[in-house]
Amino acid sequence: MSTKGYVLGSSPRELQRLILQDRMILRPITERLLRQAGLKEGMRVLDLGCGTGGVSLLAAELVGPSGSVVGIDQSADAIAMAKECACETRFRKPAFCVSSVEAFSSAGPFDLVIGRYVLMYQPSPAAFIRAASRHVRPGGVVAFHEISLHRGYHSLPSYPAWELMAKCLNLGFSVGAPSWDAAGRLVEHFQNAGLACPDLFAEMPVGGGEDAQLYGWLAGTVRSLMPKLLEQGSVTEDEVSIDTLEERMRSGAVEVQAQVDVAPQVCAWVRTLP
Ligand SMILES: C[S@@+](CC[C@H](N)C(=O)[O-])C[C@H]1O[C@@H](n2cnc3c(N)ncnc32)[C@H](O)[C@@H]1O
Repeated sequence: MSTKGYVLGSSPRELQRLILQDRMILRPITERLLRQAGLKEGMRVLDLGCGTGGVSLLAAELVGPSGSVVGIDQSADAIAMAKECACETRFRKPAFCVSSVEAFSSAGPFDLVIGRYVLMYQPSPAAFIRAASRHVRPGGVVAFHEISLHRGYHSLPSYPAWELMAKCLNLGFSVGAPSWDAAGRLVEHFQNAGLACPDLFAEMPVGGGEDAQLYGWLAGTVRSLMPKLLEQGSVTEDEVSIDTLEERMRSGAVEVQAQVDVAPQVCAWVRTLP
């Protein structure tokens, strides 16, 4: 897959959104995945499609000074930002490298290979998982964290700004992410990659009120999808009014006392044969 075809792009604003998404929403869920998958001090980890490096930095913390982490991404801008973020860490810095997953080669196999929010962007998730498993030692772990986009975004009661956001994300990802239902097909994709049926769990971000971080996260995602949405002709700039969407989502939720929830985060992992 070329960087050009990646629907969210790598503008400075999108890279900042990835950092906030990691720190505010996803990190504890990915940490649960890594711990349940057996990540321990001293292990070697490969983070596929690492973006701004959130998963790599988390893994580096968990494996400690005797372990090591490599993060790869096809986007040079994302890797430059990942290196910048790593400057702040108190832990051993991951090594970051510009490479597609398909072209990557390394000196030796890893104990654990992980990808977060990458399978949905692949034309063939099974081929991607197969490529990932080639970097794992026998008896090592392959793990993925994806979002169940097909389950949607719900508000009770509902209100217009929330419905507009949900429409934009559904339209944008259904066209821009070739495997947008990958989170719901992880069993199929792992098995078609030649691996066993994975262990799985899911967690669902939920919130409400003035301070929920979900409004900013989701409105930011709509912003990154705007070029694709306008190209499709499915919405107009005036209809979305992206600069005020976050605030309209927040004030609308407060007004109707909405409880909002976001597509579940599905995590899956499997140990390869010894
Ligand atoms: C939604 S971002 C997620 C970034 C990071 N994993 C995280 O959770 O913060 C998806 C990333 O995958 C990268 N990507 C997608 N397909 C790739 C491929 N085939 N090889 C390398 N990177 C890929 C994109 O460049 C992008 O940075």
